[in-house]
Amino acid sequence: FKSVGVLTGGGDCPGLNAVIRSVARACFSHGIRVWGVRNGFGGLVENDIVELADKDISGILPRGGTILGTTNRDNPFSYAVPHEGGYVYKDMSQQALTNLRTRGIEALVVIGGDGSLRIANEFDQLGLPVVSVPKTIDNDIPRTERTFGFDTAVACASEALDRLHTTAESHHRVMLLEVMGRYAGWIAFYSGMAGGADVILIPEVPYKIEAVVAAIKARRAQGKLFSLVVVAEGAYPVGGEMTVARIVENSPEKVRLGGVGDKLAHELEELTGFESRCTVLGHLQRGGSPTAYDRILSTRYGVAAVDALVAGKTGTMVALQKNSIVTVPIRDIAGQPSNVPLEALHVGRAIGVCFGDEV
Ligand code: F6P
Repeated sequence: FKSVGVLTGGGDCPGLNAVIRSVARACFSHGIRVWGVRNGFGGLVENDIVELADKDISGILPRGGTILGTTNRDNPFSYAVPHEGGYVYKDMSQQALTNLRTRGIEALVVIGGDGSLRIANEFDQLGLPVVSVPKTIDNDIPRTERTFGFDTAVACASEALDRLHTTAESHHRVMLLEVMGRYAGWIAFYSGMAGGADVILIPEVPYKIEAVVAAIKARRAQGKLFSLVVVAEGAYPVGGEMTVARIVENSPEKVRLGGVGDKLAHELEELTGFESRCTVLGHLQRGGSPTAYDRILSTRYGVAAVDALVAGKTGTMVALQKNSIVTVPIRDIAGQPSNVPLEALHVGRAIGVCFGDEV
C-alpha cells in the first residue's frame, strides 16, 4: 500500500492518540502516506479526511481523547441524512469508498469497539482492505485478552476505591462505587480486586441481595464497621434484568437507563440499617491520560496493524494472546461480548470477597 487511512469509531478511550501516533510512525517508516479520517465513520461519508504529517502526531502519546475531531457512533451503512426537517437512514458506503478512492487511499486502520468492528467487517466485504485495533475501556471484545483503555479505567476506579475506603472508614458507612463496563464486569472485577472491595457485583453473576446484606453484616460482627461495594453498571439481581442498555447499537437514539448503584445503596441502607452512599464514577474512567501499560499496548497494536496491512493480512483485528500480538479474522469477532470467566473469581472468593451469589 502507498496510502492508508486511520479512523477512530465509537466512544473515546484512553490510548486512541497513542494508536494513531503508532500507526502513523510505522507507516512513515514503510514510506506509506497516512490520512486521518476525522469524526469517526461519519468523516468517510462527509469527506472529512486530512493527510497526517509528522508534526500532527507530535506530543500526542499521553493525550486523552482523539486528535481526529470527535468520536461518535455514525454508521455509513445506515447514515442519518437530513430529510424534510427530520432524518432518513441511507446506505452511504459507496460515497465513503469514493471519498477514499479519490485520494488514492487503499486501506483503512479502524480503531474501534464492537460497533466499529461490525462496520469494518462490512467494508472488508466490499473489498476495502481493513485492519482493526480493539478499543474499549470495557475489555469486552472476544479473542483478545486486552483492549487498550481498560488498564486506565481500572486504575481510575481503583484510585476512587482507595479514596472511598478512607471516607467509608471515617463514617462507618457502606460505600458503593458504580463503574462502567456495559454488559461485562471486567472493570468492576479488576478494580474491585485492586481496591480491596468487600463485595463485587458483575453481570456475569446475578446477585442475591440477601447475600450482599449477609456479607456486610458479617463484617460488622467482626468489628469492621464499613464496607466497600463495587457494582458494575450491568449488574442485576437474580430474577431481575440488566438495565445498562445506554446505547441502542448503530442507532443515534440513546437510551439512558442505569443508576444501578444508587438503587442498591438505598436498598442496602434499608436492609442493613447502615448508612450507605453511592458514587457513580462515570466518564472519569474514559477521560485523561492513558497509563504506561495502555500507552505501550496501544503502540504495539498500532505497529501490528501496519505490519498486518503490509503482510496482506487484512480483514483482521490485532489482538493480545498470551502476551503476543496476533491477528484474528474480524468476522469471527463482531457480535458477542467477552465476559469475565467464572474461574477468574476464585482468587476473590479465596480471600473472602462476596460476589453476591452465596448467602
Ligand atoms: O463502551 C464504553 C462505555 O464507556 C461503556 O462502559 C458505557 O456503558 C458507555 O460507553 C457509555 O456511553 P456514553 O458515553 O454514550 O454514555
